[in-house]
Amino acid sequence: MEQACADLPFRADLIGAGKSYLTITFGCQANEFDTEVFAGMLESAGYRRAAGPGDADLILLNTCSVRQKPEDKVAGMLGRLRKLKEEREGLTIVVAGCMAQRPSAAADLARRFPFLDLIVGTHALPRFPQLLEQAGRSRRPLIDIAAENEGREGLPVVRSSSFKAWLPVIHGCNNFCSYCIVPHVRGRERSRPFAEIVEEARSLEESGYLEITLLGQNVNSYGHDLAEGERADFAALLEALDRLEGKARIRFMTSHPKDLSPRLIEMMGRGKKICEHLHLPAQAGSNRILEGMNRSYTRERYLGLVGALKKEVPGIALTTDLMVGFPGETEADFQETLALLDEAEFDHAYTFIYSPRPGTRAAEMEEQLSFAEKNERLQRLASRQNEISLRLNRALLGQTFELLVEGRSKNNPEMFSGRTRTNKLVHFAAAEELSGKLVAVEITEAFTWYLAGERV
Ligand code: SAH
Ligand code: SF4
Ligand code: F3S
Repeated sequence: MEQACADLPFRADLIGAGKSYLTITFGCQANEFDTEVFAGMLESAGYRRAAGPGDADLILLNTCSVRQKPEDKVAGMLGRLRKLKEEREGLTIVVAGCMAQRPSAAADLARRFPFLDLIVGTHALPRFPQLLEQAGRSRRPLIDIAAENEGREGLPVVRSSSFKAWLPVIHGCNNFCSYCIVPHVRGRERSRPFAEIVEEARSLEESGYLEITLLGQNVNSYGHDLAEGERADFAALLEALDRLEGKARIRFMTSHPKDLSPRLIEMMGRGKKICEHLHLPAQAGSNRILEGMNRSYTRERYLGLVGALKKEVPGIALTTDLMVGFPGETEADFQETLALLDEAEFDHAYTFIYSPRPGTRAAEMEEQLSFAEKNERLQRLASRQNEISLRLNRALLGQTFELLVEGRSKNNPEMFSGRTRTNKLVHFAAAEELSGKLVAVEITEAFTWYLAGERV
């Protein structure tokens, strides 16, 4: 899948010859990976990475639709790019990703920002090079929202890191949680062939990658759609990757509680390369709300999973996603979400205000809450979680962890930051360059969001 684009022979007839590009990504890891594929396709067409927006010949925004906020950010940015587009003849602006795949959003963008050259949805991604060529000749903007997913195998990738890699294992989602736009913009589940994933992981390890994050909207449902004879589940995939000779840490996200099998929990406990961290979105603590969300599990089942994980995977860190203000959520429902925090003891929770998404079932529900009400609940939820995060982080004082160093602090060149296997962020001082290396650090200070330590 990977291709060393820098080694491609220079061809003056390539559409990007002598031109440069810039990508800006909104949204989740799936989008971050897709941006690496767009970069791969652009570099294969002769483009090279630009230093900044000022000298780019092509700017690509890879967008997210999960809430209204990321959609508003894209509109805000396009508003600012309007001037650049007027000033610079030949500047190409592309909108890609989940917002581009939402037909009414794409039409709205085309109307408000008629200077856009190309709007390319998630399904048309493999056709991007041809579309780009066509966009140069057609009336603006060219819109492509293919109805069907096209194969993504064999597309070039330019990875943004030389030591951490994304590795998609399943695309799309079949769950249709009632609030969620993702299945509408990413299509149905398509598992990638088992052998291909294993081979790609092997080749990443061989090229020196020290961390591989397996990606999917719901990685736990991996394999159910593979051809007979090739059927496998996610636990089997983890086992195969754990057996590879290399030493890369293996992470994965996101896991859906309804598909988290005992086999998978057992594999997490046993796998040497599988990191002791699980992101397991709970969304809410009230069974009535979970049912309205179409999450297919109860609070009791969720807490049962948390208990099993803590027992079978020693030292595991748990993180979650929680939403406040789902239609009809009462104070009593919300209290159950607060109580879930105390019972599950998450290391960290990503907390969101419910945002109605056009075309989803929940957006049509009555009893939508006011923004003030939702925001007040969010503040209470976040402050309760902050206390728990700080308490759990303080319990790590004096312990030593292996960190994969991610880079140097922008503000202080002597400070580096890295992640433990449990995905905790740790800052520490060092004189020599350590980015991309594994180091041992003892925790000396604990905060809500991060830890500080010293090399041992
Ligand atoms: N596939 C993953 C993540 C999907 S989006 C999963 O199933 O967990 C990431 C998070 O965004 C979700 O877990 C949810 O908490 C939040 N989210 C999704 N739709 C939302 C909406 N309409 N409003 C607010 N938050 C939303
Ligand atoms: Fe959205 Fe639910 Fe699918 Fe996650 S599992 S992407 S929340 S529909
Ligand atoms: Fe956003 Fe699309 Fe991911 S909607 S969260 S970028 S799948």
